[in-house]
Amino acid sequence: MPLLIKNATIVTADETFAGDVLAEDGVIKEIGAGLSAPHAEMIDATGKYLFPGFIDPHVHIYLPFMGTFSKDDYASGSKAALMGGTTTLIEMCCPARCEDPLEAIRLWKSKAAGISSCDYTFHMGVTRFDETTAEALDIIVREEKVTSLKIFLAYKGAFGIEDNELYKTLSFAADRGLVVTAHCENADLVSERQKKLVAEGKTGPEWHEPSRPISVEADGCHHLMTFAEATGAEVYVVHTSCIPAVEAIEAARKRGVKAHIETVAPYLTLDSSYAELPDFEGAKFVMSPPIREKKHGDFLWKKIADGTVDTVGTDHAPFDFETQKRMGHPENALDAGMNPTGKPGNFTLIPNGIPSVEERVKLLYTDGVCEGKIDLQTLVRCASTNAAKIFGLYPRKGAIQIGSDADLVLWDPEYRGEISVKTHSMATDYSAFEGKKVKGCAELVTVRGQVLVRDGEWAGKGGEGCFLVRSVG
Ligand code: URP
Ligand code: ZN
Ligand code: ZN
Repeated sequence: MPLLIKNATIVTADETFAGDVLAEDGVIKEIGAGLSAPHAEMIDATGKYLFPGFIDPHVHIYLPFMGTFSKDDYASGSKAALMGGTTTLIEMCCPARCEDPLEAIRLWKSKAAGISSCDYTFHMGVTRFDETTAEALDIIVREEKVTSLKIFLAYKGAFGIEDNELYKTLSFAADRGLVVTAHCENADLVSERQKKLVAEGKTGPEWHEPSRPISVEADGCHHLMTFAEATGAEVYVVHTSCIPAVEAIEAARKRGVKAHIETVAPYLTLDSSYAELPDFEGAKFVMSPPIREKKHGDFLWKKIADGTVDTVGTDHAPFDFETQKRMGHPENALDAGMNPTGKPGNFTLIPNGIPSVEERVKLLYTDGVCEGKIDLQTLVRCASTNAAKIFGLYPRKGAIQIGSDADLVLWDPEYRGEISVKTHSMATDYSAFEGKKVKGCAELVTVRGQVLVRDGEWAGKGGEGCFLVRSVG
């Protein structure tokens, strides 16, 4: 049924204005003042903001990783995203080094098709580049319509690639105009520091950050930039957590490197003290790169506000605390069924990642907009429009324009609530933001005109989303 949203404060990346929006046949049909459409359902949006659907450019829904599997599937993950106002997901397809890339992308797609309520696409993980890879990737681009890549300068032996593979991947992408997203750390340095710390008996979650300090991340960024400069590839650094990493990328931009910067919600709203919580609670906050001291978060907010940081995603990587994060608990070994080494656990065995796809927009609004760190249009830019532009989805997504998909978020700024595992839709047994007081909520959310959240409650059936074919270059 067509939907007429009346009297909204419409916020896009470029402007804020009062008006009405008519959504019909899945797209935005009219924008204006005093619109009438007797055949449409009418929603009074007085006192509410109307945003374009938010885009999360970095999620993991299906993720075999560190001896286990991420907890969400597309039913729970996309529902959680929508409850928080995110209407489009871009998932990392992460095959193991030994896996066939074409089979992998088909597997990842099968996890979403007919199940996802969000629209979705993928970044294709390149975890090996041998003589067969270019042909496989060309098929993935041409036939599977997946037009951005993902590489890891981390997780050696699992997803990480060697420098000759990095060079070949970036050259391949540069030739075809594909954006390469990259996790940047110095993987060898991480593994040496991990060994040293564990040998010294420093095994708790609080040692995760010291095993991957800011210099390790900055070095990874600088390394990627050197290769991007040499190949001409357009790169996108995912989950940038700290001052020297941003500075390394800014320096490369000045040299002409086409580099985008993503940060993620946990770096903005948490700090390194969380991983130091007693009784292994700190494991809930273990992700890579690690969450840093508060000054880095403060810096990232400023860099979002001035446009240096392009996007804020989540890197949603959901693992249960009790059965999965505890794989790294010192009391757990293989015979307890908890970790794959058979030896007592340590921080290197804690599955890396934080569930957050549901909370990103609320956190950005509460800690960003309400605290005066960013304005509403910056919120739209960093959480929607910029990702759409970088990844070939604009103006179908990330915009409130005639002809754009009717992905709309009606936001109630007066709502007051509290984040809790008891009420979230993600499948994990904990929330990293438990007890946090939030302002504002997604009251009504549509994907191509389908109302999937109504009055802040889930109104979907499942499977409403579709795979998005993107433009390149
Ligand atoms: O800790 C993280 N970030 N987990 C998910 C995998 C990745 O590196 O993106
Ligand atoms: Zn990563
Ligand atoms: Zn990730």
